Amino acid sequence: MKKISKEANKKKYTVKGFAFIGRTFDEYKQMFELSATDLQSNSFLDCPGGSCSFTAEATKQNIEATALDIEYGKSPDIFKTICENETKKIKIGFSDAKSLFRWDYYKNLDNLISIRETAARLFLNDYVDNPTNYNQCTLPSIPLNDDSFDIVLSGHFLFLYADRLPFEFHLKTIEELLRVCKKEIRIYPLIGLDGKRYPELDALLEILKTKGFSPSIKKIDFEFLKGSNHLLIIKKH
Ligand SMILES: C[S@@+](CC[C@H](N)C(=O)[O-])C[C@H]1O[C@@H](n2cnc3c(N)ncnc32)[C@H](O)[C@@H]1O
Repeated sequence: MKKISKEANKKKYTVKGFAFIGRTFDEYKQMFELSATDLQSNSFLDCPGGSCSFTAEATKQNIEATALDIEYGKSPDIFKTICENETKKIKIGFSDAKSLFRWDYYKNLDNLISIRETAARLFLNDYVDNPTNYNQCTLPSIPLNDDSFDIVLSGHFLFLYADRLPFEFHLKTIEELLRVCKKEIRIYPLIGLDGKRYPELDALLEILKTKGFSPSIKKIDFEFLKGSNHLLIIKKH
């Protein structure tokens, strides 16, 4: 029988389906390069939002923000259980794959989990207090009018789950995100769970250019999954 080395066995970070997890406002600031001016002068759509606390924390700072996700509409109790289960999965998933990540921002696994729990707690509170901040949507369709928000943020969905989302889905979703934004969309990261750049990114960007959009890729300081230090910004005009 073929022997698999211990090292090869270790280097895996697997996710079944789509993880219902979320990041905090500060993580979004880093990964989407949101400046103080960006935050002061724009409205935001987070899509898909998962258990992110961006919308909750933005609302507290009087920044207009709304989140969409396929799962929204479930009861807060169900979400509490889902979030607790996701935290358990993170513990198991990372124990085998720490070396695939850079730990400059999170420092260690306990701190990472604590940040995920904070995001989930703030999300759950806001989901109860401000239910209109959270609307169900099944991408690639978005139940919003054209130009509804200045900036649309889309994190840890497109490209990351490219092994289960086809090219056409990526294109349709991006066109829909562009339709509902006034100024631009920002997508992060540009790599898959395997750590490799989305193979059809250039082809996708060429199509978007022919449709009159202006995409650009920016190197950013934030990097967790190794290789995830690029942000895609697509300007509408
Ligand atoms: C890993 S989370 C990303 C959450 C957040 N943006 C972040 O950066 O942490 C992926 C989310 O995509 C949502 N999702 C999966 N398929 C979807 C679809 N077709 N339409 C809308 N949301 C979807 C899942 O419910 C999940 O919350």
